[in-house]
Amino acid sequence: MDNDILKVLYSTDEIHAACSRLGRQIQKTYADKVPVVIGVLKGATFFMSDIVREIDTYMEIDFIDVSSYHGATQSSGQVDLITDISTDVAGRDVLIIEDIVDTGRTLKFLMTNLSERGAKSIKVCTLLDKPEGRQVEAKSDFIGFQVPNEFVVGYGLDYDEKYRNLPYIGVLKPEIYTNN
Ligand code: PRP
Ligand code: MN
Ligand code: MG
Repeated sequence: MDNDILKVLYSTDEIHAACSRLGRQIQKTYADKVPVVIGVLKGATFFMSDIVREIDTYMEIDFIDVSSYHGATQSSGQVDLITDISTDVAGRDVLIIEDIVDTGRTLKFLMTNLSERGAKSIKVCTLLDKPEGRQVEAKSDFIGFQVPNEFVVGYGLDYDEKYRNLPYIGVLKPEIYTNN
């Protein structure tokens, strides 16, 4: 897999440092609360697992799977709920954990959906933010790194469902996705 990577953007150590830094911020924010921390499948699973262990407060964790349609339906920007959380978020403080915010469509969908269910507060922590990709407004409260408009993979992020298990985040060689 390493052969398919043009350059490493964030090493395992840099990711761990970001998790510690964000964890400290989040811990302060929720010091006297018991948030519901929701990881967005599948990309955020590695980040979710690392960051919650950097936060020393009581919390509940859950996962949600949403799917956004690219290609033919890109203009519609439709996002569907695939697998729901099992937690009732009404009246709860919710923290969404994402690996990356790109167009912002996934996050916008989640914010709307969770607020309709009566969440008391909703905050967002994303490891990567790609502001140049934004199509709809979507703001995060805790951000690990701002990334350039490049195709990044690893540490949960996929290309064609692969590369998620790389222990670092890197830029994919263009020939990998242009030859397919
Ligand atoms: C990716 C990524 C974010 C979302 C961001 O998920 O993990 O959840 O896209 O893109 P957006 O800001 O343009 O909506 P994807 O839908 O590819 O599913 P995955 O996490 O299973 O890879
Ligand atoms: Mn995702
Ligand atoms: Mg994906």
